[in-house]
Amino acid sequence: MGAGKSTVGPEVAERLGRPFIDLDRDLEQDLGSTIPEFFEQRGETAFRMQEEGHAIAALRLPDAAVIALGGGAVETPSIRNELRERALTVLLEVDADTAWQRIAGSGRPLAQDESEFHALYDRRRVLYDEVADARVHDPDEVVLAAAGVHVHAGALESLGSLVPGDGPVALVADPHVAGIYGAAAQVALGSRLASVHEVPEGEAAKNAETAERLWSELRLDREGVLVALGGGSTTDLAGFVAATYLRGIAWVAVPTTLVGQVDAAIGGKTAIDLPQGKNLAGAFHWPARAVLDPVTLETLAEEQRQEGMAEVVKTGLLVGEPLWELPTPQLVQRCAAYKAAVCLRDPADQGDRAVLNLGHTFAHALEAAAGYEGLTHGRAVALGLLAALRLSGRPTDVVEQVLRPRRVQVDPERAWEALQRDKKARGGELRLVLLGDEGPLVEARPDAEVRSALDELIAE
Ligand SMILES: NC(=O)c1ccc[n+]([C@@H]2O[C@H](COP(=O)([O-])OP(=O)(O)OC[C@H]3O[C@@H](n4cnc5c(N)ncnc54)[C@H](O)[C@@H]3O)[C@@H](O)[C@H]2O)c1
Ligand SMILES: [Zn+2]
Repeated sequence: MGAGKSTVGPEVAERLGRPFIDLDRDLEQDLGSTIPEFFEQRGETAFRMQEEGHAIAALRLPDAAVIALGGGAVETPSIRNELRERALTVLLEVDADTAWQRIAGSGRPLAQDESEFHALYDRRRVLYDEVADARVHDPDEVVLAAAGVHVHAGALESLGSLVPGDGPVALVADPHVAGIYGAAAQVALGSRLASVHEVPEGEAAKNAETAERLWSELRLDREGVLVALGGGSTTDLAGFVAATYLRGIAWVAVPTTLVGQVDAAIGGKTAIDLPQGKNLAGAFHWPARAVLDPVTLETLAEEQRQEGMAEVVKTGLLVGEPLWELPTPQLVQRCAAYKAAVCLRDPADQGDRAVLNLGHTFAHALEAAAGYEGLTHGRAVALGLLAALRLSGRPTDVVEQVLRPRRVQVDPERAWEALQRDKKARGGELRLVLLGDEGPLVEARPDAEVRSALDELIAE
């Protein structure tokens, strides 16, 4: 009561593309009277019975929805049971004083007397703690909980309690990351740690040879959990191995790069590279948890941080807020929550996820033209964002200031061909993600415009 469910609920539903059900409001409609009136005429017991029927029916709907439960619903044991069995239950935290200030004088039947309200709050608190899968304060935190993403300074030290189940754990890391964070991760995993596996640093880990070595080294049963500690290369590889080993076991991503925390570890895409190209063999396999500890980013090299900032600026442009100006922990949380919501809305990448490609069509063309050498993905994305902003009729100063993109020396014809190949692969039409007044939109543009936007990114 007074926690803000009716504000946060619809916001979360919209972000996740799910219907919102406000049980108290539905009940009032069904009862043909307000809840205070019903309480007065029929009493609390009669009300709880009505509430039980409605809550259980809503929780059993075949399609998932975002449901706001009345504050007293948890007092009914069958509702608590149903929550445990069928729902991800998040407790919207509010302290008793704030809640009282919000609802005093609202006419709610159980909010008449301050000391009674405090007693009620204390009594229910125990039940809330019993059913809550996560405790949250705002829509971002609800989305992150729904996606299994845990963002917290110092989270690495609590890794043991964040790995689901109680089966054995295999830890995967490259030697560099293992040297910095391996010991802390091993201590945190304690007696569940069954084996440690080293993989090459960077992109060199994402190949069939390394995947095959892991498949043969692992000694896990179906209860086992793979924990990937490192950058996007390590989590992409380990996630793919987890997706395929024994036809799929649970895994936990512990990204230690900015790219990993705002992008690679969120959304369930895993892959290795083939000689024919990047990410050509892979699977959608969501990590059971993604554990994001912003403190681990402190040891990141400046160039690595800039790689991540390109995706941060992209996200900020998509949400229309200068997220790149935030302190690192908040920046990570906001970006991760944005990507998580888009991916939960479109898990199989068949629609909404396209917006995450802002700047990427151009970036991929430049990377291909450079033969994937001498041009990092982040730098290519920075240039791609310039092109997307120009084609959107937007100023480019933010990208210039934060990412300082430098034109790249590649063959313009090669870049244009790569873009055309992309177009063919997408059924003959090149659809670009651009920014409109209401946010991102996906649009085709005349070849000449696209070509000149591409040429502007290339050094003479
Ligand atoms: N699955 C997805 O949705 C997705 C999204 C974006 C990128 N990716 C993939 O991610 C990969 C790039 O990942 P990346 O940019 O994180 O780099 P990376 O994983 O290649 O790591 C880069 C380097 O950073 C080092 N490193 C990692 N964490 C560190 C830390 N905390 N302190 C010091 N050094 C550290 C590593 O040892 C490595 O040498 C690419 O293969 C890309 O395809 C995947
Ligand atoms: Zn990218």
